[in-house]
Amino acid sequence: MKQSEAKERIEKLRTEIEEHNNRYYVLNQPSITDFEYDILLNELDALERKFPELISDSSPTRRVGSDITDEFIQYEHKYPMLSLGNTYSEEELRDFDTRIKKVIAEAVEYVCELKFDGVSVSITYRDGVLFRALTRGDGTRGDDVTTNVKTIRSIPLRLQDKSVPAEFVIRGEIMMPRAVFNKLNEERIKLEILPFANPRNAAAGTIKLLDPKTVASRSLECFFYFLLSEELPCNNHYDNLKKALEWGFNVPDSLKRCQTIEEVLEFISYWDSERKNLPFDTDGVVVKVSSLKMQQELGFTAKSPRWAIAYKYKAEEALTRLLSVTFQVGRTGTVTPVANLEPVLLSGSTVKRATLHNSDQIELLGLHLNDMVRVEKGGEIIPKITGVDHSFRSENSTKINFITNCPECGTLLIRNEGEANHFCPNYLHCPPQLKGRIEHFISRKAMGIDGLGEETIDLLFSKNLIRNFADLYDLKSGQLVPLERLGDKSVSNILKSISKSVETPYQRVLFALGIRHVGETVAKTLAAKFRTIDELISATTDQLTEVAEIGPKIASSIVSYFADGENIQLIERLRYAGVKFNTDKEIIPEGTTLNGKTIVISGVFLKHSREEYKELIEKHGGKNSSSVSGNTSFILAGENMGESKKEKAAALGVPLIDENEFLQIIGED
Ligand code: IVH
Repeated sequence: MKQSEAKERIEKLRTEIEEHNNRYYVLNQPSITDFEYDILLNELDALERKFPELISDSSPTRRVGSDITDEFIQYEHKYPMLSLGNTYSEEELRDFDTRIKKVIAEAVEYVCELKFDGVSVSITYRDGVLFRALTRGDGTRGDDVTTNVKTIRSIPLRLQDKSVPAEFVIRGEIMMPRAVFNKLNEERIKLEILPFANPRNAAAGTIKLLDPKTVASRSLECFFYFLLSEELPCNNHYDNLKKALEWGFNVPDSLKRCQTIEEVLEFISYWDSERKNLPFDTDGVVVKVSSLKMQQELGFTAKSPRWAIAYKYKAEEALTRLLSVTFQVGRTGTVTPVANLEPVLLSGSTVKRATLHNSDQIELLGLHLNDMVRVEKGGEIIPKITGVDHSFRSENSTKINFITNCPECGTLLIRNEGEANHFCPNYLHCPPQLKGRIEHFISRKAMGIDGLGEETIDLLFSKNLIRNFADLYDLKSGQLVPLERLGDKSVSNILKSISKSVETPYQRVLFALGIRHVGETVAKTLAAKFRTIDELISATTDQLTEVAEIGPKIASSIVSYFADGENIQLIERLRYAGVKFNTDKEIIPEGTTLNGKTIVISGVFLKHSREEYKELIEKHGGKNSSSVSGNTSFILAGENMGESKKEKAAALGVPLIDENEFLQIIGED
């Protein structure tokens, strides 16, 4: 195919695909199957690969996201992004209407819209092409998330309508459908990654990812609700949004014009129940004066427009019976009360348990057994109890008291002054704490023993094969192979990994011991100062506090750890197994190399991800910042660093340091 022919075909395909995108994502009326759609997209992709000079940033093929991305540069919003006044009551809504009528003499038309609970985005189009997408940021400046936004299929990259203003801004809410959210969280739980609390958090986390391919895979959607331009097509908000719909924007059809506040209230009451059938989270209704002239007359307060208000729905509540309260001991000894409830349906899922946080919360609620309690799902996964309906309480019901002794080992619980939680002080023998310490010991940043997950530890524990981490080094293959769930191969891997762990450097061994307040950084500082464990064991509180960054709290925790004979015994057993308790190498304590330095990360790296570099900067005492200024100490510069950053750095005389040089500086090369 000749280039001129390819150009023609590419144009035709792009137009056709954009039309299908609009039918599918905006109008919800697809006219071809997914399979047929993929054929068109594949043909376009193949042609663009063959004729790369014809690739355009606004081609539908770009939606899958490229591999490279620039960091989030910030830009100023042409029109500041304000927030909205909130109300939860009909009365306040009527007050809003009255305030408006005081300023405006004629009849006022309102537009009611659903308030989408997602992440707001402001997108500028120039000459019909998506130019730039910014997050809200501080309202004045936002992060440039254009590359990620381009992967969202319901957002047009290029508009077919030639009558659109030369430049306009359109605002909307980026949403993650609930079904996508549930699936994503299931995967995260499987991979032992912290699940997102709600679809809004998931959408916010996704739009700030540095890998557009992952963003593309998360099926985000966007609903538009505000058009801004010097040359708006119509003189009222409603018609402008309908125009935007014609241009190809996903403007929700729930949009409604209302002539009176009564009609507004009807809209609110209709959607209060109906919104539960939507695949997205909505948390209220936004009411706006439609006429732009009236909007102008009403103007703004410092924070929000006087011509709009958000009516927020109350969080969903249900009434159910409190069957019992159980007290869970976490792996660090913290005790959490959990309410067991008669199963009840709340926001589409069955609730059986609710967290009670701590003893203060139980007191505050004044709970009795068999009470009818109100449960609320406030946008988070775990529901909470917000109150008791006293009319259902029977006279002789028992008050719920916080326990005095650990339910796992019987030890008297302690609550330190100023702290909200009770904890079990029996850290050496309380089973969940013992398991927690073993888990910490084998974790990646400590001894790095692979093949032993939480479940295997539980199994070995229940079979009495381990009680502490020193027991790991006595495990024999003959003890493990007969256990269900552990095959020959995994047993051999576990044992290999345990014996290899004796080579772990001294500072990581110190961290692995799990001494209270001795994290990775403190462990390194200690190892640098006390080059053998015996020196550390015999160190006094005074000697310890002489070391920079070791305060009295850490020092006293270390001294009391080594004063316990059982801990010394554990250390002796580890030493016998060959674990390293000294170092002959110079250890540079952490948290000092980059002290006082402000570093900007820019570009793409080969040896570590940007997230890892951020962690490394913090680990070595530096501060990570996103924008270059006179305070920047240096830029950690990768490939494809943004031009604007380069220019700014040159102008301010900020040095650029590549990743190899950086790793050398911090001694991690
Ligand atoms: S209009 C000046 N309309 O709610 C008017 N906002 O609390 C600006 N939101 O930042 C906003 N749905 O993120 C508007 N239909 C809707 C909305 C909506 C959700 C969000 C938006 C805004 C926040 C204000």
